[in-house]
Amino acid sequence: MKYGTLYGVGVGPGAPDLLTLRAVDTLKRAQVLAMPRSSDFGASMAWKIIKPVIGEIEGQERLFLTFPMNKDPERLVPAWKKAFQAIGERLEKGLSVAFATEGDPSLFSTFIYLQREAVHRWPGIEVVVVPGVSSIAAVPAVTGIPLADGQERIAIIPANYGVDDLPAILEQFDTTILMKIGSEMPNVLAAIREAGLADRAVYVSRATMPDQRIVRDIGQSGEEYGDCFAMAIVAKKQRNGVLAGDVEALAKATTA
Ligand SMILES: C[S@@+](CC[C@H](N)C(=O)[O-])C[C@H]1O[C@@H](n2cnc3c(N)ncnc32)[C@H](O)[C@@H]1O
Repeated sequence: MKYGTLYGVGVGPGAPDLLTLRAVDTLKRAQVLAMPRSSDFGASMAWKIIKPVIGEIEGQERLFLTFPMNKDPERLVPAWKKAFQAIGERLEKGLSVAFATEGDPSLFSTFIYLQREAVHRWPGIEVVVVPGVSSIAAVPAVTGIPLADGQERIAIIPANYGVDDLPAILEQFDTTILMKIGSEMPNVLAAIREAGLADRAVYVSRATMPDQRIVRDIGQSGEEYGDCFAMAIVAKKQRNGVLAGDVEALAKATTA
């Protein structure tokens, strides 16, 4: 059987003008535009990002698929079955399906499961990934905190799967990015304080979106955290500027 092509399209971290030209082209051409949302009644962040750029496209079907933000298989499996069925029906008719995903499709994205399953469900299907600007690139941009230079090492941690090993990670890596923080924020804060890095940690929610929020020196803040589009970045290195004292580090990095 000749299936339609399945595209995984990264739509960037929030600002519509961070959509790539390739993403816009792919989203406009697809016969079916599939978008994840966290509840049957909730809005899709991917759609919010895309909408002002692509608007209505004649003949294109918009398919909203619900994936509960939950680790409970009893809730997840039926949602996945429904989504695979809806996408499969279209692919089997030879229709191209673009699955839009916030940020980049290859990082903590629903598309990863779809990509993995697609080759088994629809043998021979063509799957195309269109990379997007990840939140991992957006957060350094809005905070002015570089991720790494020279020999520095970066750790990326999905905090909602536990942060027991965070003290060791903070010690071993120059920059630590904590994604999917949610209710783990108190434990994240405790580990950062314990490591003496509270003044090197910044919390960012909704980077590049109109309601972006940046909290520097998170250890001092008693605010509540819990946004589902939020991360913390802990960058140990104090960057003083090359002429103000980083010359040695620069020489080391560039000769490495
Ligand atoms: C399911 S993951 C999706 C990541 C996405 N694929 C990417 O490349 O950025 C969701 C997590 O990404 C981070 N995130 C996504 N967009 C963000 C934004 N605009 N600002 C801050 N963090 C964001 C948060 O840590 C959030 O919990």
